[in-house]
Amino acid sequence: MGRKIITNGLLLLFLGGCILNTGERWNTERPHPADHIKEIPDLYPLPDSLRNPGSFTLSQMALGQKLFFDKRLSANGSISCASCHKPQFAFGDSIALSLGTGGYSTQRNTPPLFNLFRQNRFFRDGGVARLSEVALSSMNEIHELNLPIDTLVRRLRSIPEYAQDFNRVYKRMPDPYTVMQALKSYQLSLLSGSSRYDRFRYRKDSTALTPAASRGMKLFFSEATFCTSCHNGPDFTDGLFHRNGIPEVGRPDTGRARISMNWGDYARFRTPSLRNLSFTAPYMHDGRFNTIKEVLEHYNRAVLSNYSNSLPSDSHNLPSDLPRTGRVLTTAELQDLEAFLKHLNDSTFVRTPAESTQ
Ligand code: HEC
Ligand code: HEC
Repeated sequence: MGRKIITNGLLLLFLGGCILNTGERWNTERPHPADHIKEIPDLYPLPDSLRNPGSFTLSQMALGQKLFFDKRLSANGSISCASCHKPQFAFGDSIALSLGTGGYSTQRNTPPLFNLFRQNRFFRDGGVARLSEVALSSMNEIHELNLPIDTLVRRLRSIPEYAQDFNRVYKRMPDPYTVMQALKSYQLSLLSGSSRYDRFRYRKDSTALTPAASRGMKLFFSEATFCTSCHNGPDFTDGLFHRNGIPEVGRPDTGRARISMNWGDYARFRTPSLRNLSFTAPYMHDGRFNTIKEVLEHYNRAVLSNYSNSLPSDSHNLPSDLPRTGRVLTTAELQDLEAFLKHLNDSTFVRTPAESTQ
């Protein structure tokens, strides 16, 4: 109990730091983004470099944090990375498509950001191979920040506080490389591994799961569902691209085929993590499902062979990659499965709305 209060206090201090950070000189005494790593069980698989970052890494993370929340990173100063990747929604967004500069909508649902060190391809179609390059693409994108990196670098150089920060951290003026490195370092510090499930799995705390979640966990890892054929590993994703049986509705999205140029990859999307689902609705690449229940009902229908007959007339069914091994679950089983998925939420990772107003 006592420890919890102290931890929350630290978290609040840190969050306060985030808000004050915008447009203000970074103060080295402020609690650091990496502070919540202490909540993650020791057995949870984390690289040493992230569990115990050195002081250079810490200073890069803090500079990256400042950039991430700074609206001066967009063409007209109206949005920052955090306007779409919102801390209180596990660095995702709560609407199907986010709004970029000039009121443009994004083409896809904004993915949440955490445990990116495990990800080797970025974007829902895997179109970007390196984390440091994601920022570039979002700067150039007219639907997003719409501010090319050379313009951004010129802007940062003219802001004395950034000139000082970059000189202190990198011993040089802001340039495309250091801006991308700082943003990357901050994003690597977004680690989520202290859900109730993690307490059960990595702290061996048998009280961490409710009876319903425990039943749901057995279903999840069993052949009654087919979930772990794609949602596996520490983050519940195989990192590969699949069609999970959702029909094509509205504007078509070619998915992985856009990158691989292989028609067989049409409408395949990267398997998303199942951590923090309570914070990351709506779901799928286009945000079509609003609740976990709707998602589970989709999978439950998808095991039926006559599923395609029950689709609305304006949708188009695609061949799915779902293995046909599952069975239709009862309402009680669906509730158990949902209870299990909710035990993958990590509330220490997610900030409250008041703490992330950027
Ligand atoms: C207008 C909303 C918006 C803004 C602003 C924005 N992003 Fe994104 N971000 C998205 C969307 C949408 C995607 C998914 C793109 C896709 O899959 O095609 C994305 C994808 C990403 C990814 C890949 C995540 C994954 O799991 O594949 C990272 C990392 C990321 N953004 C970081 C950033 C950074 C850093 C900034 C600021 C420099 C930024 N974003 C600004 C909407 C935004
Ligand atoms: C064939 C691989 C595959 C299987 C099997 C599978 N999924 Fe998925 N799942 C995916 C893909 C791919 C997506 C993302 C689709 C998209 O972006 O449109 C997804 C999305 C989801 C989402 C939404 C996550 C988000 O952030 O949008 C949930 C929840 C989910 N799956 C749960 C499950 C459960 C529970 C099972 C077992 C009943 C299951 N999945 C079986 C591949 C699979």
